Amino acid sequence: MLRLSGNSLITVLIVLCVVNAALAQEYRKGRMLFDDHWRFHRGAAQDAEHSGFNDSSWRVLNLPHDWSIEDLPGTHSPFDLNAISQVSGGFTVGGTGWYRKHFTVDSTQKGKRFVLAFDGVYMNAEVWLNGKSVSKHPYGYTSFQADITDRLKYGQDNIISVKVRNEGENSRWYSGSGIYRHVWLTITEPVHLAQWGVAVSTTSLDTAAARLQVMTKVTNESTQAQQIHLSTHIIDKQGKEQVSMESIKEIAPGASFLFNQDLQVNHPVAWNLATAYLYRVVSEVYIGTQLVDRQETTTGIRLISFDAVNGFRLNGETVKLKGGCVHHDNGPLGAVAYDRAEERKVELLKAAGYNAVRCAHNPPSPAFLDACDRLGMLVIDEAFDCWEGGKNQLDYHIWFKEWWQKDLESMVLRDRNHPSVIMWSTGNEIPNRDKPEVVAVAKKLSDYIRSLDTTRAITCGVNGIEENKDPFIATLDVAGYNYALAQYEPDHKRLPNRVVFATESFPSQSFEYWMGVADHPWVIGDFVWTAWDYIGEASIGWLGYPQKQDFYPWNLAYCGDIDVCGWKRPQSYYRDALWKPNQLSLFVKPPRPSFDTATHKEDWSHWDYDDLVNHWNFAGQENKPLQVVVYSSCDEVELFLNNKSLGTKPTNRSTKFMAIFEVPYQAGELKAIGRSPLLRSYRALYTASQPAELRLTADRTTIQANGQDLSYITVEVADKNGPTVPNAENLVHFSIKGPGSIIGVGNANPRSVESCQLPERKAWHGKCLAIIKSDKKAGDITITATAAGLSPASLIIQSK
Ligand SMILES: *[C@@H]1O[C@H](CO)[C@@H](O)[C@H](O)[C@H]1NC(C)=O
Ligand SMILES: *[C@@H]1O[C@H](CO)[C@@H](O)[C@H](O)[C@H]1NC(C)=O
Ligand SMILES: *[C@@H]1O[C@H](CO)[C@@H](O)[C@H](O)[C@H]1NC(C)=O
Ligand SMILES: *[C@@H]1O[C@H](CO)[C@@H](O)[C@H](O)[C@H]1NC(C)=O
Repeated sequence: MLRLSGNSLITVLIVLCVVNAALAQEYRKGRMLFDDHWRFHRGAAQDAEHSGFNDSSWRVLNLPHDWSIEDLPGTHSPFDLNAISQVSGGFTVGGTGWYRKHFTVDSTQKGKRFVLAFDGVYMNAEVWLNGKSVSKHPYGYTSFQADITDRLKYGQDNIISVKVRNEGENSRWYSGSGIYRHVWLTITEPVHLAQWGVAVSTTSLDTAAARLQVMTKVTNESTQAQQIHLSTHIIDKQGKEQVSMESIKEIAPGASFLFNQDLQVNHPVAWNLATAYLYRVVSEVYIGTQLVDRQETTTGIRLISFDAVNGFRLNGETVKLKGGCVHHDNGPLGAVAYDRAEERKVELLKAAGYNAVRCAHNPPSPAFLDACDRLGMLVIDEAFDCWEGGKNQLDYHIWFKEWWQKDLESMVLRDRNHPSVIMWSTGNEIPNRDKPEVVAVAKKLSDYIRSLDTTRAITCGVNGIEENKDPFIATLDVAGYNYALAQYEPDHKRLPNRVVFATESFPSQSFEYWMGVADHPWVIGDFVWTAWDYIGEASIGWLGYPQKQDFYPWNLAYCGDIDVCGWKRPQSYYRDALWKPNQLSLFVKPPRPSFDTATHKEDWSHWDYDDLVNHWNFAGQENKPLQVVVYSSCDEVELFLNNKSLGTKPTNRSTKFMAIFEVPYQAGELKAIGRSPLLRSYRALYTASQPAELRLTADRTTIQANGQDLSYITVEVADKNGPTVPNAENLVHFSIKGPGSIIGVGNANPRSVESCQLPERKAWHGKCLAIIKSDKKAGDITITATAAGLSPASLIIQSK
């Protein structure tokens, strides 16, 4: 029972007023992030779309946000054996959630246009402003807008309400739930650049000059016709204007006009994988001398082509696509798409040898594509996992007929200026693709994309490759083969002009799939399932299919080259040897399997990889032979146990870039030396002693004080001499001081159902991860890790 005296009632009222004043941010012009100070409620809420609804008890949070990765109410885990998502969603829980945001707009802003832009909401979003519906958007992966101009109140509290429903079985992988990408507010004059209205493409390119076509759509939402001056400037990386052009047109009220400008850039620097040089296209709209709108588009100057003789060419040079499929989730962060989480994923994929990513099976966040542009990573941008025929009761198929056109527009118009994007994919493993009615849909989608953009190839991930899929594949520019290595040669004999690549392949067959690319000019690349591990489709990399409820507590797929924490798994080291010179790594087959094995597995289920560990700690196995696997692209490798040579073996294509040794176990140092004509490489595994201390390493020790920048801190449990103790599972506690917070913890254990949000995590294989997010205040952030019986460790991250 709460009893308030007169005085404390006044105090409460004052506090409430202060809170409201703090929330009432004022918005004036341009395009701004609209992520801060939302109120959130997990569950249904009666009348929460109405302005008068009392949301004061709702949690205040900043977007992006995903409630499915948060602990279930009353528990310390996001996972539930009985979750509707089951194995598909990694036993995570969806449901309904609500977001509300209060804001005010000054009355001097009257007459402008106000548009809310959502980068991604999973799913079935409904948006209200002041109780009036302004937008509905079913698909959880495409960006959409809501024009709120006509419902705005000036100088008063405005309330946006967003209802999000991730209900029922609607996904084959972890989707996340909520407003998991950025929200923007755009404020323009009535005459303005249309949303996604600028399209830049390279029409010719040589060392002397490049020609760029710039199409710019200007919309007139005023009530009178006006002379519009469109001024387009191309600015290089140093900020120097290379060329500009001005065009004039009178636009009728309520109409739009598409300007078509052709600009020449002399001595262009082409965008490629090594330098990823970017230009800015600045579009300015004037009425008379008054600048009414301005927008910057980042793009690259580059040409691409696809054919069965030269394969895929970037600026005239053949590039074999070293590709991987990647789902959208960010492991311990769930689906939350912080820019830095997206950028780090691209950085680590690039470091692991990838030059291409297939965004499976949906368009990624804009931040992901921006990172691919900056870092030099090619992208296949994919629209759908299903069309008219569903794979789950409540998945996108129920929306397809009404929405496919709008969702394709969202993908293509939003993403068409990214130099990284080289193909549009219409889908993945579409059911009944041998049927004429499904071929007709395939053609309809390809044709519609071609009406929006003709500068990329169109593909689709097709499984069950046989001649009866020819009509379906004929609707595409490039044939995406899922798991069809055996068809590369026979199909080429039949159809010599078909350009082929593996839209999906098995990690355990990476040698065969890569040689299929290396040996065949018409095979342009290989995209492994998957490059990065993900939540959901639990244990396809160990227990495989059929997937069952008793897989619990497995919740990760466990098939990725890189695990959900961003750490390389053995298959990624093997790929190093396939793709790069002078690589060397060594692993040991554990005498007992790492997990229980499946009692029954389909014989087509091959996403598992050899069970290998990267340590030399097998007490109790003394003198028993252990299998040691060395991956290397050196010419030969020599293995040593405690400085005693165990022999030299060749490692080249004829040995599949690996050498296998039988080694009677003896504690100490197991060392491999790789030799090539000009180089020696060296790698070793050590026997660790008892856990003694914690060791912290940050991927970045300086971050930006923007409220969304991240530092990923790896924790290792080490012995007194330094090596990581490979079986250590100590519970590590985190504490943090300064302007930052811990927003995620993980350890990549595919069977762990621990919280991803509490400031603690058990180590797995001697490691765990904490993710720190900056506040908007600068200063030093100190993170300290402690564990019972071990020396603690601290680290300082500067937030600037
Ligand atoms: C809103 O609800 C809170 C309790 O959740 C209550 O204290 C407050 O008085 C309510 N405000 C109004 C205006 O009804
Ligand atoms: C914009 O539209 C209004 C009517 O809606 C029209 O009067 C005005 O001239 C148009 N402006 C331009 C620049 O075309
Ligand atoms: C191997 O030999 C080096 C150099 O002779 C020595 O420093 C090292 O301790 C030896 N290592 C082992 C495990 O015996
Ligand atoms: C691989 O190495 C073996 C042994 O050195 C050599 O005989 C063979 O020619 C090599 N094969 C290739 C493809 O280089």
